[in-house]
Amino acid sequence: MQDKNFDLLIRNATIVDGTSAPRYAGDIGIRGDRIARIGDLAASSGKVEIDLKGRIAAPGFIDAHTHDDRLMLSSPDMAPKVSQGITTVVAGNCGISLAPMPRPIPQPVTPPLNLLDEEGGWFSFPTFASYIAKLREQPAATNCALLVGHTTLRVATLDDLERPASPEQIERMRALVREALQAGAIGVSTGLFYEPAVAAPTEEVIETCRPLKEFHGVYCTHMRDEADRVIDSLEETFRIGREVGVPVVISHLKVVGEANKGRSQEALSLIEKNMANQPICMDCYPYTAGSTILSADRAANSARVIVSWSRALPEYAGQDLDAIAKKMGVGQDEAIRRLSPAGGIYFRLDESDVQRILKHDKVMIGSDGLPHDASPHPRLWGTFPRVLGHYGRLLGLFPLEMAIYKMTGLTAKNFGLKDRGVLKEGAYADLTLFDAETVDSAATYESPIAPARGIDTVIVNGAPVWQGGKSTGARPGRVLAREPQKAGA
Ligand code: ZN
Ligand code: CU
Repeated sequence: MQDKNFDLLIRNATIVDGTSAPRYAGDIGIRGDRIARIGDLAASSGKVEIDLKGRIAAPGFIDAHTHDDRLMLSSPDMAPKVSQGITTVVAGNCGISLAPMPRPIPQPVTPPLNLLDEEGGWFSFPTFASYIAKLREQPAATNCALLVGHTTLRVATLDDLERPASPEQIERMRALVREALQAGAIGVSTGLFYEPAVAAPTEEVIETCRPLKEFHGVYCTHMRDEADRVIDSLEETFRIGREVGVPVVISHLKVVGEANKGRSQEALSLIEKNMANQPICMDCYPYTAGSTILSADRAANSARVIVSWSRALPEYAGQDLDAIAKKMGVGQDEAIRRLSPAGGIYFRLDESDVQRILKHDKVMIGSDGLPHDASPHPRLWGTFPRVLGHYGRLLGLFPLEMAIYKMTGLTAKNFGLKDRGVLKEGAYADLTLFDAETVDSAATYESPIAPARGIDTVIVNGAPVWQGGKSTGARPGRVLAREPQKAGA
């Protein structure tokens, strides 16, 4: 009798289980935070029941690449994420993490750390353990897996950021990495493309990352160069992974700039070749524009630039840099000077490169959304539904089962998130219920803050967090640990 009753019973689902296996019809019974039964549960009942009438039940999406370190604390309903079906975020990417900051953060906040907090008050966690304790005390709606950022470690340790770290400074950063991993971080990220991390030689990264091996962590990187020297950067990434002895994750894989159009082919074949010798993972976002802090050199290499925020002149957020310069009656560089510190959305990727990378069956989906921008890149609210709708259903880039795998099962496997990312009995009850016929992003460059279309209900650890187009107020999110795969598995 008892096993006929569930806390939550989802009837008449079309189940896409996150492994890339073909969809099938069934009911899903949830007890507590786990999926108790999948099958024909017509004779059972649930305290709460949802009749899906054939619509899709998939594992909750895992956002492989985020900057949600602070969002989880400052807006714990995580609306930009749960509204698109995301139930777990990997935070601390691109070398940028909120913790640890054992000394007062410099003012103004060193870019790109200002992407998390322009004022700096949130960089208030002297240890990684104190940050995790805060997340446990005040949980967010989503789960998270956390990386510690190398740029944060540099700002916390070095007085002269324009130089390589000294052996003593590396030792201090290594101690901070160890503390973070002990506390529950799953890896280290770098943003070698950005100042001030650009001053770090490969050896500094390798030596700082040493503790990763003992803790079975991962190394994630926004590579030094995604343009003309993308191949050198891939080789550097592979070398760091080999020397530290851990898997690497190439963040937002892309080839930047008109001159490098088509080179995604070269990059992907080099990655495939090296995958035979060492574990390599990668993620990407489904757009031809990137977004980061506003700078003259990036703007000069872009077909179009939209200003996403400006501290000096906030009224210009959301407008084209060209139009702003015209209004000011100045050149582009002078306009940037007046707007800064500021953020930009840069159109400088080729659509066929984006599609080739997106389609690759080893590529995970990550939003790289910037949640604190006044007029954010639409990827913040739209990444996952855009992959399912625009690229999956409309352009036919991949079947639904494959699209879901790239945002669930593959990601859970790569980051070692046990019993997540798949719908099976015994797994955690993280689910996204949606309509495959209508799901798509509603966020655009012009109007970037908009919940996705077609997402019905989003469930985290058995609790609905998004339903009927709004947050439920539940905050069941947990800090997830990494369980690395055994060799050969
Ligand atoms: Zn990045
Ligand atoms: Cu990023």
